[in-house]
Amino acid sequence: MNVIQLTIDGKKVVVSEGTTLLEAAKSIGVTIPSLCYMKLDDLNFENRPGSCRICVVEVEGRRNLAPACCTPCADGMVVQTHNLRVIQARRTVLELILSNHPFDCLICAKSGKCDLQALAQQLGIRQIHYSGEKSHYKCDASPAILRDMDKCILCRRCVTACNEVQTVGVLSPVYRGFHSVVAPAFEMDLDHSNCTYCGQCVAVCPTGALTEQDNTWMVLDALVAPGKTVVVQTAPAVRAA
Ligand code: FES
Repeated sequence: MNVIQLTIDGKKVVVSEGTTLLEAAKSIGVTIPSLCYMKLDDLNFENRPGSCRICVVEVEGRRNLAPACCTPCADGMVVQTHNLRVIQARRTVLELILSNHPFDCLICAKSGKCDLQALAQQLGIRQIHYSGEKSHYKCDASPAILRDMDKCILCRRCVTACNEVQTVGVLSPVYRGFHSVVAPAFEMDLDHSNCTYCGQCVAVCPTGALTEQDNTWMVLDALVAPGKTVVVQTAPAVRAA
């Protein structure tokens, strides 16, 4: 296998052909933020649609910033992963993603474990400078999984987990452009699809778009009022106006 030598943030790196800039940077301890990228080492599966653009870096001699997760290293490349231009681009990208995202972190089940939230903190986002149309999908509350597609950033990690890892084939992108969303065929509810509730889509979702259905309060309700009939299926999603 051919060996490639490049420079990342002033450090010389030697990698094998086909290695991406993200992996090369990681090998020398440089962390480039990512959202859509996912690598499951044990299972040898990768998700790198290059859709979020959070991982952009500057490559000397190239006019446009390059997505590190899907740009292969080339001999002699000189890369900057955290200069001002790159940070500003990441902040802009993140603000654009957040401009079509509900601001309900305070009551979101993923709060504190959300990659999007963590990145906003890391990049010091305090204000969204972009406003426009927002997505409004109905919440799909199945017995085990809550799908809130208003929080989906179309990273497609769940699509890889559902189709390639678990081979269940329920989730896929439907529609195009602004109306594009990840859903079962014909946008049917999970409960009416072939979903096995394995939960792998929830495990890889970087936001609160896919979360485990929390039936804690209903179970507690049953304990304090044993005679009461408890329906553990249609917990409505709560969203701030
Ligand atoms: Fe590279 Fe999303 S992580 S484009």
